[in-house]
Amino acid sequence: MNKIYNTPLHVAIIMDGNGRWAKNKGKPRCVGHVEGAKNVNKIVSFAFDSGVKNLTLYAFSTENWQRPQEEISTIFSALENYFNNFASSTANGKIRLRVLGERNNLPKTLLTAIENCENQTKDFTQFNLNIAINYGGRQEIVSAVKSLISVGEEITEESIANALYTAELPNPDLIIRTGGEKRLSNFLIYQSAYAELYFTDVSWPDFTEEDFSLALKDYKNRNRRYGGV
Ligand code: IPE
Ligand code: IPE
Ligand code: MG
Repeated sequence: MNKIYNTPLHVAIIMDGNGRWAKNKGKPRCVGHVEGAKNVNKIVSFAFDSGVKNLTLYAFSTENWQRPQEEISTIFSALENYFNNFASSTANGKIRLRVLGERNNLPKTLLTAIENCENQTKDFTQFNLNIAINYGGRQEIVSAVKSLISVGEEITEESIANALYTAELPNPDLIIRTGGEKRLSNFLIYQSAYAELYFTDVSWPDFTEEDFSLALKDYKNRNRRYGGV
């Protein structure tokens, strides 16, 4: 049972606006990524306390490889650092961490940090924290369909859903995008068919519990019809 009536079971956040946040302060874009990473645990704790059970954060898309190498390295080190400190900070025997995305091209040290974190938290059941890294919704669907074909399984809405990175998770009820843009940028495109969307101009490094709370309040007033009347 969720603590608050009409609390979304699964919230997904497109953590956007790090680069512009830094630029507006006359700093290099990388500073925005470092600041953005510092904001994650506060938001995870708030989601946990609000009765949300699943939180998925978009950290690096399959398209983000087009960025300068220095920026990519900064993002990956911030993530590695996050995973290496995870057990001692947020986890607390409650939060299971999963990484969604294609792992093949990730740096070895980041992969090790991810695997350690996933193993250490695999028995925790109160809350799922999912971080999307080298994630692309189209790539995810193509891989899922290919894997089903390779084992001769029938292609259905359900079999595809069960072959996605999110197989064990409910569909997102609410997708929040910070940073002012109003698009999904290839995030959870199969799973978000009936998600409620919420856009805010606040940049990710500035996104607070109050901002999150506004999104949850807005969600409560949505009338989800799923095609019915
Ligand atoms: C989001 O912030 C983080 C990633 C995409 C990795 P951006 O880096 O996209 O920041 P803006 O949108 O350029 O401000
Ligand atoms: C989406 O943001 C990806 C992440 C937040 C990780 P982008 O900044 O890459 O998206 P576009 O380029 O504005 O669509
Ligand atoms: Mg962006």
